[in-house]
Amino acid sequence: MTDIASAVPAPIDPTETAAWRALDQHQDALTGSLREWFAADPQRAGTLTREAGDLHVDLSKNLITAETVDLLLDLAREVGLEERRDAMLAGAHINTSEDRAVLHTALRRPAGIEPALVVDGQDVDADVHEVLGRVRAFAQSVRSGAWTGVTGKRIETVVNIGIGGSDLGPVMVYEALKPYADAGSGSDAAAPLEARFISNIDPTDAYETTKDLDPETTLVIVASKTFTTLETITNARLVRTWLLDALRAQGVEFDEAEAVAKHFVAVSTALDKVADFGIDPANAFGFWNWVGGRYSVDSAIGTVLAVVLGPDVFEELLAGFRTMDEHFATAPLAENVPVLMGMLNIWNVNFLEAETHAVLPYSQYLHRFPAYLQQLTMESNGKSVRWDGSLVSYDTGEVFWGEPGTNGQHAFYQLLHQGTRIIPADFIAFATPARPLRDGEQDVHELLLANFFAQSKALAFGKTREEVEAEGTTGALVPARMFSGNRPSTSIMAPALTPSVLGQLIALYEHITFVQGTVWGINPFDQWGVELGKQLASALAPAVAGDEAAIAAQDASTAELIRYYRAHR
Ligand code: F6P
Repeated sequence: MTDIASAVPAPIDPTETAAWRALDQHQDALTGSLREWFAADPQRAGTLTREAGDLHVDLSKNLITAETVDLLLDLAREVGLEERRDAMLAGAHINTSEDRAVLHTALRRPAGIEPALVVDGQDVDADVHEVLGRVRAFAQSVRSGAWTGVTGKRIETVVNIGIGGSDLGPVMVYEALKPYADAGSGSDAAAPLEARFISNIDPTDAYETTKDLDPETTLVIVASKTFTTLETITNARLVRTWLLDALRAQGVEFDEAEAVAKHFVAVSTALDKVADFGIDPANAFGFWNWVGGRYSVDSAIGTVLAVVLGPDVFEELLAGFRTMDEHFATAPLAENVPVLMGMLNIWNVNFLEAETHAVLPYSQYLHRFPAYLQQLTMESNGKSVRWDGSLVSYDTGEVFWGEPGTNGQHAFYQLLHQGTRIIPADFIAFATPARPLRDGEQDVHELLLANFFAQSKALAFGKTREEVEAEGTTGALVPARMFSGNRPSTSIMAPALTPSVLGQLIALYEHITFVQGTVWGINPFDQWGVELGKQLASALAPAVAGDEAAIAAQDASTAELIRYYRAHR
């Protein structure tokens, strides 16, 4: 491979910067606790709260002072964060290992901006809006009933087949914006549509998802950037067989090619492979290799969303992304929420030695958001080599995880409150409920919010010996009932979980991921780490099928596991 890394400035080893050394010294000298800092400074919450678009972000319950923030921003400047951000937005090939531009932000630029974004000789704005227009028209035709299945029946269910970025984003957004689907989302829908998702190569996924579907009213979207992903192509074939068999079983007369054309559409960057699969290229929606899979929910990969939620909702989502992009591109560093949150993660990982990061949405509709963030953050920054090929000498990519509150409270919060590890947490909540329900006089959303407020308060301020004893507890029970507090968290609030706010949230975490990658000198836009497992899985196929020589050629553990499988299948 040519040395494409030379096209962008070499990464700066962050540990060699003056700011890193200053942060080290600052950490050594840092005294006090959240209790003390809040007591000493009544302005602390205000000083450390920021607004970005509709998001209200309270950073004050983190283990930082104003000086920590200043030093972290010095570090951001020293590693050239602003220059790299601007290079990304302008279409520089910052994905060096694949020699690609990184332009997911172009997916949400409005039409008609002057000057147009031209990258590698292509008018990116024109390309994006041409596809968006086709997605919109397709969505409208399905929603209005103009597009029908092969027997002339209106589509009722859309099954998206994809994995990784071609699944997690669409599922997460569909779940988050369910009220918009249930409502039939506006006047253009003849009736509400349901979305379902198949991702796992475990055939039970396809089976369970299709078993009660009517093939005549089912539309399948095969979503794969590369259109080579084993799971997706296998599932697409399984579902094609299911659909054709199920139509036949209903005694329907049909032409096979026409049935595939009416029931299968595709989203991909590889339109030639779409045609090879038998899907009419006229029914395929493209995107480009400058969109990483985990950054693609706002590309044609979101077609399922445009169909089921409606194109207006999808465009509102894109507008939300754009709001955060503009903030990231233009807000001064000290006001820039993705920059501050990204740098705070650097502080937590590299100075406070946090190994994981919890994301805790107090919204059941966001129940897939932590899973979505796992791919976004961990496939991006789970690396130990910098973009010039040099090894890092510091920790990178923390483990992101989470569950919706309050379910998590009754599962793992014990460890957050009283365990031995430091686990920074992002709490997310919305002022207005998506479903305003009352339990008698009680507004149930207020109960949810009371829990949201209580948890970050308990983590930050804990419960002292005196407070425990004042409740009448004595002896060995006292330490068991004490909470050390001083456990960091960020609280993110917004007026409501609208499509725009969701777009803002997603873009926020995209940019946080970029900020961390930049400090670590990591290219967040490739994913070589998933290749070895894929290669081995296909190489193992003969052994799994029982070829003795192939089994014997494996390491002893793998050979024994395969023999166990062969003996018990
Ligand atoms: O897990 C590797 C990966 O390439 C992800 O980055 C991607 O989102 C996923 O596989 C699916 O890829 P595709 O959209 O090409 O099927």
